[in-house]
Amino acid sequence: MNTDNNATEAKLLTLAPTMKQGGFYNKNSTLQGQTVSIGIPLVHSMALTAMRSFGPGEELINIADFGCSQGANSMRVIQAIVRAVTEHSSRESNIPTTVNTSSRPLSLMVFHEDLPSQDWQSLFLQVEKKDGSSYLNLPGCQKRDSTPHVFSAAIGRSFYERMFPDRFLHMAVSFTAVHWISQRPDVYPGASWFYNSRNSPEESHKAGANQFYSDFENFLRLRAIEVKEGGQMYISMSASPLEVPELSQKNFVQDDLDAAIKSMLDSGLMTKDHVKAITLPMYIPTERDLKKVFERVADVWEPSGFSYFPEANVYISCWDDFVNGFITAEHLGQQYEDFWRAVSESWMTGQLQAIGLSAEAATQILNEMYGRVRLAVSASPRQSFSFNLMGSLRRKESVPLTCSTA
Ligand SMILES: C[S@@+](CC[C@H](N)C(=O)[O-])C[C@H]1O[C@@H](n2cnc3c(N)ncnc32)[C@H](O)[C@@H]1O
Repeated sequence: MNTDNNATEAKLLTLAPTMKQGGFYNKNSTLQGQTVSIGIPLVHSMALTAMRSFGPGEELINIADFGCSQGANSMRVIQAIVRAVTEHSSRESNIPTTVNTSSRPLSLMVFHEDLPSQDWQSLFLQVEKKDGSSYLNLPGCQKRDSTPHVFSAAIGRSFYERMFPDRFLHMAVSFTAVHWISQRPDVYPGASWFYNSRNSPEESHKAGANQFYSDFENFLRLRAIEVKEGGQMYISMSASPLEVPELSQKNFVQDDLDAAIKSMLDSGLMTKDHVKAITLPMYIPTERDLKKVFERVADVWEPSGFSYFPEANVYISCWDDFVNGFITAEHLGQQYEDFWRAVSESWMTGQLQAIGLSAEAATQILNEMYGRVRLAVSASPRQSFSFNLMGSLRRKESVPLTCSTA
């Protein structure tokens, strides 16, 4: 019994919060927010397609958002689905207005999913906001008798585990999350070299790729059991520019962090052990990596999209604001620092403490590292980019319910 408890606690510890808490990620995720802006029309059309494939008997539409984090970006994605379901339902009832006049008692259940240790309080506050940012009570999406039409719930569990009953979900989304792999391969340097950035050696690149192939396949097979026939999943994930020639000379966001870490290593302010400890459990896949996994799951999913398009490049901050003089170079640098703090500080602090550093020592090292990112950008303002591969997957018919969950 004790051994079981220890194992569970150890597992929760290794799943330390990845995004900086207290709503910090919500405020410093404009880059991820741009990805959502690009994806919204595509999610909307995916939801309409999915709705058309279900029979008229559906009364409850179950929707999941995998890796929702603190919710600011997630709200907009779910809004797109709620609007699409509402539109579809109005059309179906032949009344050209909204669901509030529909005779069909259609309801939506939204499940927000993330790690148990994430900042759930910020997510719940976001869902309850009354300023129009939440998907609850969207104008035109309520029933006339004011019965709730959209419901919400949350699940704290890794998306590399089973989450829902068989054939339960009608739609699922995941934005900027599935590049977080289930564990770090034990190779050095890893990364901040991100296993496959321009700077990473062959060995760490291969180890990261193999972990990603197995994790992403597992994720897709688990979801194939949980999504109904005809159901759809929209995935947008951080992608590597390695196979895109037009991006090869440009500054990738990860390069800024790589440079800060490398300079601290060179000047003795970080040891190899520190660098190994703060390695993020991430693999940023190329288009070829994704295609490889899609081939493996071709029995259960039919993907579309997931090819590079230049409009999918996104930036940490509003570069135009800097060019037009609305923000200073220092402010630009601060945005880069805060972006990196939002996505990595909680994880890195915990990992440095796990190898024996005091909280103060860990904070000192990380303050220096983030400070170096800020100073480098302020001294030489840049438009570091990131981009995403995104697309939808249609759940094929007759998926065997005994899919491996290994
Ligand atoms: C960069 S955030 C993206 C949040 C949000 N989807 C957005 O677009 O802003 C990545 C999220 O994935 C979550 N995550 C990472 N690994 C996970 C796992 N194994 N299971 C569930 N969530 C995970 C992190 O906790 C984090 O909240």
